[in-house]
Amino acid sequence: MKITLVGSGYVGLVTGACLAELGNHVFCLDVDAGKIDILNCGGVPIYEPGLKELIQQNREAGRLLFSTDAEAGVLHGDVQFIAVGTPPGEDGSADLQYVLAAARTIGRSMQGFKVIVDKSTVPVGTADMVKAAITDELVKRGFSPDPEQRRALGQPDFSVVSNPEFLKEGAALDDFMRPDRIVIGVDDSAAGQQARAQMHNLYAPFNRNHERTHYMDVRSAEFTKYAANAMLATRISFMNELAGLADAVGADIELVRQGIGSDPRIGYSFLYAGTGYGGSCFPKDVQALIRTAAEHDQRLQILDAVEAINEAQKRVLVGKVLKRFGEDLSGRCFALWGLAFKPNTDDMREAPSRVIIRELVARGAKIQAHDPIAMEECRKCLEIDFAGAPERLAAVHFVAQPIDALSDADALVIVTEWKTFRSPDFSAMKSALKHPIVFDGRNLYEPPILADAGIEYYSIGRPTVN
Ligand code: UDX
Repeated sequence: MKITLVGSGYVGLVTGACLAELGNHVFCLDVDAGKIDILNCGGVPIYEPGLKELIQQNREAGRLLFSTDAEAGVLHGDVQFIAVGTPPGEDGSADLQYVLAAARTIGRSMQGFKVIVDKSTVPVGTADMVKAAITDELVKRGFSPDPEQRRALGQPDFSVVSNPEFLKEGAALDDFMRPDRIVIGVDDSAAGQQARAQMHNLYAPFNRNHERTHYMDVRSAEFTKYAANAMLATRISFMNELAGLADAVGADIELVRQGIGSDPRIGYSFLYAGTGYGGSCFPKDVQALIRTAAEHDQRLQILDAVEAINEAQKRVLVGKVLKRFGEDLSGRCFALWGLAFKPNTDDMREAPSRVIIRELVARGAKIQAHDPIAMEECRKCLEIDFAGAPERLAAVHFVAQPIDALSDADALVIVTEWKTFRSPDFSAMKSALKHPIVFDGRNLYEPPILADAGIEYYSIGRPTVN
C-alpha cells in the first residue's frame, strides 16, 4: 500500500519505518527541513534502539523516503497518518494546532479517496475537528461540503480514522511489530466502511495468528488511548504512595508487589515504585484527561491524586538525602546515575532527574552525573531549567563512566534503571565514594548484599541498611 506519514517525529518515524518493513511504500513528510536533511543523509534525529538500521534498510530498498514536499506527500499515500506533536498547552489541554495544520495540508492537495488516520494522541472529539478542517479546505477548492455529494460527483473524499499508538520508548519497534492490540475507530458512513477495509488490509500481517484488532467508534478509540495511559499512571502512583507507607511501617514494597502481582487480576507489571513517572506520555495524557473532564464539568478525582502523588514522588529521594545529610548541602557532591526518564532512551521530558538535580543544586550541592546516552540531552534541558542561574548549571558535571561519577562524591543517587547499573563492583564503589552511601530510586539492589558490602543503602519502600 502507499502510505504517507504527516510528521516525522518519534511516532511518525517508528510507524513509517515499520510499515515500510512490511512492504508498504512510505513517504515521511515534515515541515522541518533540517530534520529531513538528517534523515536523507542516513542520520536519525531521535534515539530508539534498532530504528536507524530499520530506516537504512528500507531507504535502500526504496520503500521509505523523506521529504518536505507536502503536495507530493499528500498525493502519494492512500492512507495518510497524522503523527505530529500534541504538546500540553498552559492549561494542561493538548495543543492541537499541529494536528489541524496537518489536516489542512492534506485538504489542500488531496485527490481521490484518502483514509486519514489520527495517530497522534488526541482528545476525544479531535477526529471531528480534523474532518471539519479538511472539509473546509476542500470547499475552498470548490468541492462540495457534503460527503455523499462529493462521492456521487467523483470529487475528493476521505474518512477520518482513530488509530492510537501504544509504543513504549526504548521498545517501540517491538511494540509496533508485535502489538498486544490494534485499536481502530471508524464511523458507520460508506466512507468509514471503505476506510475500515483499507485499515484491515494494512494491519492484516499482525492478525495472522489471531485477530488483535478492536474496531470501535471513533470517540471510543480516542478515549481508549487516554484510559490506558491513565490506568498505568494510576498503578504507578498507587504503588508509590504505598511505598511511602511501607517505609513508615517497615514493610518491603517489592515483596508486596510480588505478593499482589501473582493475582492474575492484578498482574506484575507497572507496579514498580520509584522516582515517579516521566516521559512524553503519562504526565501529558493524565493532564489532558483531567482537562477533558473539566470541559464537561466533571472532576476526575483519582487522576488529580495520581498527578499530585507523582509530583511529590520526584522529591522523595531528595527527602532521604536531606534526612541523612541535613538541609544545607553546600560543599557536598553527589554522584548521579541515570538521567533519562527511563532506560534505553535519551528522552529527558518530565524526567525525575531534572527535579532531583534542581533540588540538590538549590541547596548548594555539586553533581557528577552519568547516563549512557542522555547526557547531551540533559545538558540542553538544564540550560533551560537553570536559565539565569549559570552558577547552578556549572554545579553539574557530566562524566563518561559510571565509576568516574563516584570519585570523591558524598553519596551515589540512582535515578534511572539502566542495565549497566545493575551489577556494579560494590567494593570499587565503596572505595571511590567519600562515604559509602547509596540512595536508590529504582530499587536495583538486594539490601542484604549492600549490608555485606558495608554500604549504607536507602531505597524506595524497602528497609534501610545502615
Ligand atoms: C507509555 C506507555 O507505556 C505506552 O503504551 C504509550 O504509548 C506511551 O506512554 P513510555 O512513556 O515510553 O510509554 O514509557 P513507560 O515504559 O510506559 O514508562 C513511563 C514512566 O513510568 C517511566 O518514567 C517509568 O520509569 C515509569 N514507571 C513505569 C514506573 O515508575 N513504574 C513502573 O512500574 C512502570
